[in-house]
Amino acid sequence: MKTFYRLNFPVAQFIKDNIDFDDFPRTFEPFADGTPRLWGVKYYPNEKILTQEFINFLHELDFHPPHTHIFMGPANSELFIHKDAPSDPRNAWAFNFSWGSESSEMRWYHINDSETPVVKHTLTNRYVDTWTADQCTLIDRAPMLLTPTLVRVDLAHHAANMGNTVRWSASVRDQHNWTWEEAVEFFKPWIA
Ligand SMILES: [Fe+2]
Repeated sequence: MKTFYRLNFPVAQFIKDNIDFDDFPRTFEPFADGTPRLWGVKYYPNEKILTQEFINFLHELDFHPPHTHIFMGPANSELFIHKDAPSDPRNAWAFNFSWGSESSEMRWYHINDSETPVVKHTLTNRYVDTWTADQCTLIDRAPMLLTPTLVRVDLAHHAANMGNTVRWSASVRDQHNWTWEEAVEFFKPWIA
């Protein structure tokens, strides 16, 4: 099974024009182990990011995302490889959109046998299991676009910005308690 699917939603525009991210922090405290933290995430009200047309469409599907996650990735950098809440199927899927960089992608990995994660924790005590590229085998990659893409987030993955400008990405998640397979089944009518 694939790790991502482009979605043909009947919506003309998904993300608002000229969203103001002046309040988005551009530098972050390093991880507790001293390694730098380059990528940031902040939650915004849906109305600030998504068009009313798209919000109305989500409501028709009985999706009520509590907020929109915005990720900021600096030029020529990668987020660490991680899983979103491992073994929690509620976090198996998301829709992502990206803009601002001419070249960015999401990549998925198989974790090689017997490799154990490096636990990073932030100074605010958020723990995340991470892996280095040499502990993993690349299994799939998807250029990220301003087209909604259903992405799998319960496998090891990360995003990479290969461009020379900041990459912005919006991620919409919801209360549906679905595995990846259940999400793909639900979205079948819109899979391109
Ligand atoms: Fe993730």
